[in-house]
Amino acid sequence: MSRQSQVGRRKSLSRFFTYLSPYWVLFLTGFVAMTLATVARLAGPLILRALVDTAIPAKDTRAMILYALLYLGIIIIMGALTYFQTTTIVRLGLNVVTNIKRDLFSHLLTLPVAYFDKHPVGELMARVENDTEKVKQLFSETGIMLVGNIIYFLGMFAVFFAMDARTAAFIFIPAPFLLAGFFFIFDRLRPLYEKSRKKYAEITAIATEFVQGIEVVQAFNRTEHAARKLDLASREKRDAEIKAGMTEYTTMGFMGFLGGPMLMVLIIKLVAPSVFSGALTVGTLLVFIEYGVRLFEPLFSIGENIRGMQQARVALGRIFNIMDIDPEPAGSGLEPEFRQGIEFRDVSFEYKPGETVLDHVSFSIRKGETVALVGASGSGKTTTVSLLCRFYEPTSGSILVDGEPLKQLALQAWRRKIGLVLQDIYLFPGTILENVRVYDETLGPDQALAALRTVHAADFVAGLPDGMQTELHERGSNLSMGEKQLLSFARAVAFGADIVIMDEATASVDVDTERRIQESLEVLLQGRTALIVAHRLSSILKADKILFFKDGRIIAQGRHNELLAALPEYRELVRLQFPDLETNPETETEEAAETETVR
Ligand SMILES: Nc1ncnc2c1ncn2[C@@H]1O[C@H](COP(=O)(O)OP(=O)(O)O)[C@@H](O)[C@H]1O
Ligand SMILES: [Mg+2]
Repeated sequence: MSRQSQVGRRKSLSRFFTYLSPYWVLFLTGFVAMTLATVARLAGPLILRALVDTAIPAKDTRAMILYALLYLGIIIIMGALTYFQTTTIVRLGLNVVTNIKRDLFSHLLTLPVAYFDKHPVGELMARVENDTEKVKQLFSETGIMLVGNIIYFLGMFAVFFAMDARTAAFIFIPAPFLLAGFFFIFDRLRPLYEKSRKKYAEITAIATEFVQGIEVVQAFNRTEHAARKLDLASREKRDAEIKAGMTEYTTMGFMGFLGGPMLMVLIIKLVAPSVFSGALTVGTLLVFIEYGVRLFEPLFSIGENIRGMQQARVALGRIFNIMDIDPEPAGSGLEPEFRQGIEFRDVSFEYKPGETVLDHVSFSIRKGETVALVGASGSGKTTTVSLLCRFYEPTSGSILVDGEPLKQLALQAWRRKIGLVLQDIYLFPGTILENVRVYDETLGPDQALAALRTVHAADFVAGLPDGMQTELHERGSNLSMGEKQLLSFARAVAFGADIVIMDEATASVDVDTERRIQESLEVLLQGRTALIVAHRLSSILKADKILFFKDGRIIAQGRHNELLAALPEYRELVRLQFPDLETNPETETEEAAETETVR
């Protein structure tokens, strides 16, 4: 083992203890209960011994009944203590795991967007669930049980040794070899369980993604395809598990089933002469047999416990690794002012090394201007606005705000200046109010309402059963597309954004909603700087500047009529996206009509 991984191991252990330490009282009570339960378990056979060796020869009925009752009492106490210990420790485990999960999830939220490109959310969640489950088992099945089993085993050993050292030596010398045998089998099993674990993560990921896209899956009649894909992964998981289970239960079952009785025969063979000679009592033989039959139990469990603990340690390491990923440096840096404008200077970007997505993109925006980004899908529009939000860093070139590199500005303060209206509007589970203020308690209901009014969304919200307190269904499925858009506008207004970044939805809405969105959009853009990935004609016509993207480059920029005149590709795009412009004179604006004549 390398030094470094030893240090890592110690670190995750001590970190784990920081989660454990607030619950030390629970831990201690559980531990004491477990030790007492183990002592009671050990005491049972000793009472039988006293019964056989003293009460029976003396023909003392009263003593016999007393011992029998004592035996019963011990069993009851053992049961009660075990119950108490289990509930206490499991409760402790749930608390610890809940806290770890809480910290993990809140940390995940601070990670850069780029992290989630590399780790699909479905798979990430499956892994987290799986790993925390392993940690939880430390409290129910592995860690705490290991201690109990060791005490039990050593207790039996001590009693054996005190009664008959020679027999004890015979019985216990093979123990380490047996343990080694168990480990040998566990090592064979581990890859099989590992495979089943991986398949589980895969299945969860597939299921999550299909369920998230349920509308698409159903609309395109892909349910069968989805089911087939899941079925395949499930089969592989099942096969791996069957193989592991068979290996485990045949070998372990065989040992567990025959090991005890075989040991009993050995004990009788070893102890019988001493019993005949009177050196050992019949009661002692009874104790030996009772213990002997059970000797394998703790030994068997110890092997399993240690394996479980190893898995828990690996799982903890993985959890802490995620927690150790640096969050985005949210607070440090210059306070952004934004007085003059934004400049992209020779910005190139690749999501994956070697695959250029943006290729020397340069443009500038003066404060207050509206810029439209147009181009075929995949040409780099969304990527450009993502860079401005600093979800990613440019591979080369720089983005300047008032001449200062964006990199040097305080990230959180910068993002606060931006109102982001995404194509795929994300609504959180919660009320309309919470969705407008995105759980920011500093924004009061009044401000939220004012924002809703500003974007002409107050009417529709008032029409909902509980107004602003109406609970949204998952991903806002109880709202129309247009209503979701209005909510996302209100969000930008409520946060007092200076800059509005919009990835317009391509989905068309009805004429009435479209008109309302137009009006709201106008209000939203008033006095703000805007970057709009434009799919609406009106956005293009009103833009101070249009950036025409092609294959990750800006091949032309200017106003609508300039581009129409200069760029055949732009004319083609306009013709494709807005056929109305040529065929339906009513939707034409003056500018558009003008350029028509130019052509
Ligand atoms: N998160 C991502 N990881 C890897 N590649 C991406 C990612 N997002 C977009 N791309 C790729 O970058 C290119 C530009 O995408 P995008 O900026 O979304 O285009 P647009 O918004 O113009 O449709 C596309 O080829 C797309 O496949
Ligand atoms: Mg896009």
